[in-house]
Amino acid sequence: LPTQYCISVFHFSLSTHKQIKFIMSQAFTESVKTSLGPNATPRAKKLIASLVQHVHDFARENHLTTEDWLWGVDFINRIGQMSDSRRNEGILVCDIIGLETLVDALTNESEQSNHTSSAILGPFYLPDSPVYPNGGSIVQKAIPTDVKCFVRGKVTDTEGKPLGGAQLEVWQCNSAGFYSQQADHDGPEFNLRGTFITDDEGNYSFECLRPTLYPIPYDGPAGDLLKIMDRHPNRPSHIHWRVSHPGYHTLITQIYDAECPYTNNDSVYAVKDDIIVHFEKVDNKDKDLVGKVEYKLDYDISLATESSIQEARAAAKARQDAEIKL
Ligand code: BEZ
Ligand code: FE
Repeated sequence: LPTQYCISVFHFSLSTHKQIKFIMSQAFTESVKTSLGPNATPRAKKLIASLVQHVHDFARENHLTTEDWLWGVDFINRIGQMSDSRRNEGILVCDIIGLETLVDALTNESEQSNHTSSAILGPFYLPDSPVYPNGGSIVQKAIPTDVKCFVRGKVTDTEGKPLGGAQLEVWQCNSAGFYSQQADHDGPEFNLRGTFITDDEGNYSFECLRPTLYPIPYDGPAGDLLKIMDRHPNRPSHIHWRVSHPGYHTLITQIYDAECPYTNNDSVYAVKDDIIVHFEKVDNKDKDLVGKVEYKLDYDISLATESSIQEARAAAKARQDAEIKL
């Protein structure tokens, strides 16, 4: 802390013993929480005060030693050192302690029910994927174990009104478990990614792969934490979506294969019941698909209005403000 804010903590003379008692007390925590300068924004003041309270409580409750704390500092430093434009170790660590799923729920809480549930973005989204016509394929390069699948459906509002002109971005890993930006993915930059626009009736369709389960990268701090927690790194088979339309809340989600053994045991806690789907085997009745793909999926998506999300946020804030006043 800059000296002008530290001095106030010890401005009266205390014996060393009393100073140590003071540091270990809530009074010290309060002095740190209230030490922010006049230019700190109200949001910064609120978040930093809350963070300091929780971090001090954590240290006191667990009687943290310098050795423990340095382990944590080294862990955070390694998260940064491991990250680059292809790898986001910070997101991975947040995911395995359930933080992205919690923040996702808080961000997407809505006053409307019956819209498609959101799920975490994860670290592998890339903007500006190629725009394909409906029915197009996101598979630019397949590997021998890839299994093709055709997905089609409608984007609507929560009353079932079709939303033409909605933008759908989809992305997935290959059957070896690697996304296009990962070093072990053998394929072009935007392989297994694409953008589609719904027609006037809200319809979309595309060819992709039946998704495959994969381990999240576990050769860094996230993997070390998984080991400490005695947990596996696997994510259930899934396809990612980002669906947007003016006036509606952008939906970031994933669909999960009901037959995958990890759908009820996700390493990052992101699965919700209404986004579990059943891929069906294509047969001779599917004249347009037979011989081209092995599986098909019909899947409709329903978007919440932006105003319903904003109302839910305002209600949550009002509840919080009322609690503070109590
Ligand atoms: C993903 O779904 O792509 C993902 C999510 C969390 C951690 C790693 C990967
Ligand atoms: Fe994924």
